[in-house]
Amino acid sequence: MRIALFGATGSTGKFVIEEALRQGHSLSVYTRDARKLQALRGRIDIVVGDLQDKDAIAKCLHGSDAVISALGPNSLKVQGDRPVMHGLSNIIAVMKKSKVRRLIQISTAAYRDPKDGFAFNVRAFALLFSLIARKGFEDIRATAELIAKSDLDWTLVRIPNLKDGPAAGVIDTGWYGRTQLGMKLSRGNLAKFLVEQIDDARFIRAAPGIADH
Ligand SMILES: NC(=O)c1ccc[n+]([C@@H]2O[C@H](COP(=O)([O-])OP(=O)(O)OC[C@H]3O[C@@H](n4cnc5c(N)ncnc54)[C@H](OP(=O)(O)O)[C@@H]3O)[C@@H](O)[C@H]2O)c1
Repeated sequence: MRIALFGATGSTGKFVIEEALRQGHSLSVYTRDARKLQALRGRIDIVVGDLQDKDAIAKCLHGSDAVISALGPNSLKVQGDRPVMHGLSNIIAVMKKSKVRRLIQISTAAYRDPKDGFAFNVRAFALLFSLIARKGFEDIRATAELIAKSDLDWTLVRIPNLKDGPAAGVIDTGWYGRTQLGMKLSRGNLAKFLVEQIDDARFIRAAPGIADH
């Protein structure tokens, strides 16, 4: 399959590129700075643009079967009003026009799924994050709400703290407060789960939490 990938230049994005290529997919990668992907030239197609540029987004999506987005607010330095949510709004508009239906987006416990129960540690962590990085928290939540309201075949993959590391061992998937989920996830395991969602219908229109076992 052909995947349009957003957020490829981040720490997780690089794992997603390697995992997608390993699984035999081809990649059209969107970035605002192609220099960050210099080392991958020849292995992936690169489209340069910002998240407001619908023509460039359409070029990236052309011929793609699915979109994976590892876009997320850059730590504490969020510029402007919910930039990732506004970017996803443009990506969704282009997906509808291009008839690409599958969208897989990284998210967090900032978004509550109706199937969640009450998990004290998860709520406490979300509250702490909302206090330390309010703009990032609001952007992640608004992005997830926008996607969940769309009529696309979406999956929101909700994650805890990330660490660099390979896809190794078992991961747990489920709903906060209902499933025992740890507080750590390797970027390799996250990348593998994201790419596997391309042809797995189990979590369509769902927001599973995932974590290293
Ligand atoms: N790190 C953690 O422990 C953790 C925990 C929970 C959730 N998350 C979420 O998991 C995802 C991946 O994490 P990560 O550590 O790989 O993140 P990261 O290294 O910060 O990567 C974020 C990506 O989003 C892009 N991006 C951010 N704001 C943008 C904007 N306004 N316009 C265009 N592109 C933009 C960045 O592009 P540039 O390279 O051009 O800046 C980069 O490719 C993010 O959504 C993050 O919010 C991370």
